Amino acid sequence: MIRKRVYLLVLAGSLILAELVGAPSSIAIREAKVLGHAEERAQRLAEQVLGNDREKFVDYTTTGGTWNVKNDSTWCSGFVPGIYWYLWAITGEAGWRDLAMKWTEGVRSRATATDNDTGFQVYESFGLGYAFDETLRSNYGPVLLQGADTLVNQRYNPDIGCFRSWDQNLTDPYSGLFEVNIDQMMNLELILWAGLNGGPPEYVDYAVSHADKTWEHNVRPDGSTYHVVSYNLDGTVDSKRTHQGWTRDSTWSRGQAWAVYGYTMVYRYTGLPRMLSRAIRCYDYFIRETILDDNNYIPYSDFDAPLDSRNPRDTSAGAIVASAALELYQITGDRRYLMNAEAILGSLSSPQFLTIGWGWQSILGGASEKWGRSDVGAIFADFYLLEALYRWELVEQPPAQVTGSWAGYDVLDSHFVDTGDWMGWMLARDAPYLYHYGLEDWLYVENSTVSDQGAWFYAFRP
Ligand code: GLY
Repeated sequence: MIRKRVYLLVLAGSLILAELVGAPSSIAIREAKVLGHAEERAQRLAEQVLGNDREKFVDYTTTGGTWNVKNDSTWCSGFVPGIYWYLWAITGEAGWRDLAMKWTEGVRSRATATDNDTGFQVYESFGLGYAFDETLRSNYGPVLLQGADTLVNQRYNPDIGCFRSWDQNLTDPYSGLFEVNIDQMMNLELILWAGLNGGPPEYVDYAVSHADKTWEHNVRPDGSTYHVVSYNLDGTVDSKRTHQGWTRDSTWSRGQAWAVYGYTMVYRYTGLPRMLSRAIRCYDYFIRETILDDNNYIPYSDFDAPLDSRNPRDTSAGAIVASAALELYQITGDRRYLMNAEAILGSLSSPQFLTIGWGWQSILGGASEKWGRSDVGAIFADFYLLEALYRWELVEQPPAQVTGSWAGYDVLDSHFVDTGDWMGWMLARDAPYLYHYGLEDWLYVENSTVSDQGAWFYAFRP
């Protein structure tokens, strides 16, 4: 459980300081803004969009920002409880746990359903509950094992060495088309978890085999990815195609994000060095191609497609990679992952993508279901944003202590000041943010000087 350090709730132009403990950096303050916004959207999702009905879920919004309400069979059903689990983990507020448990129950029957995305559905609900709350383990553990059994029995073909993504309605892995998409890497988490937590140990071998085959056939030598590979039943490759990208040989950015996250996650469970080097190869491709287009760290839907209206950005791909980058930083200690993650989070928390004041129901805008579709919100974009915030809190470094005074206030490094006109932080290492009550807006630093004592002084605009 992460101790809540900064919590700002921005509602209807009023700002309530609920708690301040410790020393935030500017990203922490951006995080507080995102968190307040996320909490407001998540509460409305439960009450207004889903009507407190645990059988209802969402996947994408319309282009106007209104959630499409679905039943539990959407591949996205696990992300609804997942968002509540992360809000509980970040804030420690019991109400989020209640909502998380409620919608986790709504997903229970997916553990025995026919679906290639059982891993997404069951792990982001029961798996996160199991991870965050020991008291739920005896209840949730069997559901996770059951979900893994279902995926293995219906989807794993040992002659091919992969789990089938499509034809998604078939339960016999020896009949019909056998297509494997890059997204399927994500469903390995449930399999790996089961193999290491009381399920058949060979499940780990199945997951490793799938990851190896995916590397061989879905990933190109430069680290980019084919979306879909179709296998013959003797394990040879029949053909390759894309379902959500531009063309067969282009790279769909969310598929690339799944590869980055997927190999990082497989490394976490297996410790196999080749999984880590694959994660890094895919990551390097993702970051290089994203930055090539412009500097805002959020890719377009397809890295190779022309930059026109059919190729919108995809904030979900950015959020997935921000979260994976924070895990890569934790594993390797290489600060470039932390810096890239912070750059992505900086973009996601900017007015271009964060839906404060938009009248949308999602936390983020600027996602896309696939190449050729318009900008929408996506529940998994919101989910991975919150996961990244959670992970960022785990890896952040405490800032150096610097003292001084400013505007008559003592400054001890990251020091909170509330003058009645505005509130904000004096920061030793990074650009500060403050909230101006009269303007009902966040203001950003314009310039700064460093005092003899080493404290930084800021002038704010306007
Ligand atoms: N199938 C997961 C996705 O659309 O990314």
